[in-house]
Amino acid sequence: MARGRTAIVGGTVVGPLGSLAGDVLVEGGVIKEVGRIDSAGAELVHAGGCFVLPGAIDVHTHVFGGIRDDTRSALCGGTTSALAFVDALPGERPVEAARRTLADELPDSLIDLAFHAVIWEPDAYEAGDLRAVAELGVGSVKLWLAYLELGIMANDDVAFAVMQEAADLGVVVLAHCENGRVIDVLTRQLVDGGRLGIDSLPRSRPISLEAECIHRFLVLAELAGATPYVVHVTGRRPLEEIVAARARGMTVYAEVCSHHLLFDQSDQEGPDAIRYVMTPPLRTGDDRAALLEGLAGGGLDTYASDHCHLRLDRDKMPVRDDFTKIPTGLPGIGARLPLGFALNGDGQRLDVERLVEVACAAPARIFGLYPKKGVVAPGSDADIVVWDPSTPSRLTLDAINDGLDWSPYDGHDIPGTVRHVLARGDRVVEDGCWKETDHRGEYLPVRRVAAPV
Ligand code: URP
Ligand code: ZN
Repeated sequence: MARGRTAIVGGTVVGPLGSLAGDVLVEGGVIKEVGRIDSAGAELVHAGGCFVLPGAIDVHTHVFGGIRDDTRSALCGGTTSALAFVDALPGERPVEAARRTLADELPDSLIDLAFHAVIWEPDAYEAGDLRAVAELGVGSVKLWLAYLELGIMANDDVAFAVMQEAADLGVVVLAHCENGRVIDVLTRQLVDGGRLGIDSLPRSRPISLEAECIHRFLVLAELAGATPYVVHVTGRRPLEEIVAARARGMTVYAEVCSHHLLFDQSDQEGPDAIRYVMTPPLRTGDDRAALLEGLAGGGLDTYASDHCHLRLDRDKMPVRDDFTKIPTGLPGIGARLPLGFALNGDGQRLDVERLVEVACAAPARIFGLYPKKGVVAPGSDADIVVWDPSTPSRLTLDAINDGLDWSPYDGHDIPGTVRHVLARGDRVVEDGCWKETDHRGEYLPVRRVAAPV
């Protein structure tokens, strides 16, 4: 795409530490100036009364399989980059999966993508697997500490070996923390008792098993010298484990996802239970309050979607009578940033600077993309969202625009509107409307490979 000069004028530029009235000059896909700019010859984007934010970064996404739809939705909602979990075919080594994904999936992405490697076959893990993906520019790896029944759960010995290799390389270790062995026992007891309804899902996955697993993950990471990142924290007890590890002096990163902030177990108990099937499951209202407090106060570092490209009609409804068969996860990549403005605990909203920190800046810093991404500053990619707080909007399937037949967030009221989005300088949303353009996403390699210790 031709990328000329664009000037975003009259808005308030937001960073994690503060906001300032100023203009932004974009040239060649990069931010040239912020503040007082020379806009001669530039296309003007009027941002009077609006916040000018860095393009948001979604650190927890499962987009492969529906990438064009998912990434279009992302742009419509102001998310211009994401970290995506790399899926693997049976027998594929992590580096082979990453290479195949780069070749087959990335060309269809409309947003910039970095990869998280995933240990899908823990018994096949070999030392050197992480070095190979790191050399391809992958700076993070995910361990499943649950899902024994799928054969993807890493036992402590493999998890520890992965963490040791990650520590040598400077690779961040993400973990899905739930005690998979005890969940397996509870699940079999529920199935043997004929209790196949959706209400058995939370019964089989109590919050104590999440807290226990986080504790274990952090102890192993500390011993291995790895940098741990806990995905989708769901409530007070898990958060206490993270706070306790930090009090011992550890660096621990922790993430919260939209669904755990917006819903609680009462949603899963109602007639629409099928719309709230995810792992870990929804918790109590008190847990939700603890998450909101943690996100506002610094206990939680990032705000993500855990987007899964799943249809209600084809993927979930046909198996709704058996909780062990329902595919878990919700779509939400496009809704995430707008919902961030609507997060509300005791009438208190997250302030816009904190939202920029958890949805844009911290994701970029933690995963090695800063300051190319995550900030409106000279030299950064011109990924920019103009957010209009004076025009309330409602999330609808049309607005979310991900091609799916449902959204758990359909009908949510948002105190504002995505007015404009620029992705590396390309105008992909103009005056609230998605524009079909030839803008394409790029791979974001992360250079982290350190000398072996
Ligand atoms: O239920 C969920 N969240 N499914 C996606 C996999 C995960 O746990 O991240
Ligand atoms: Zn996930």
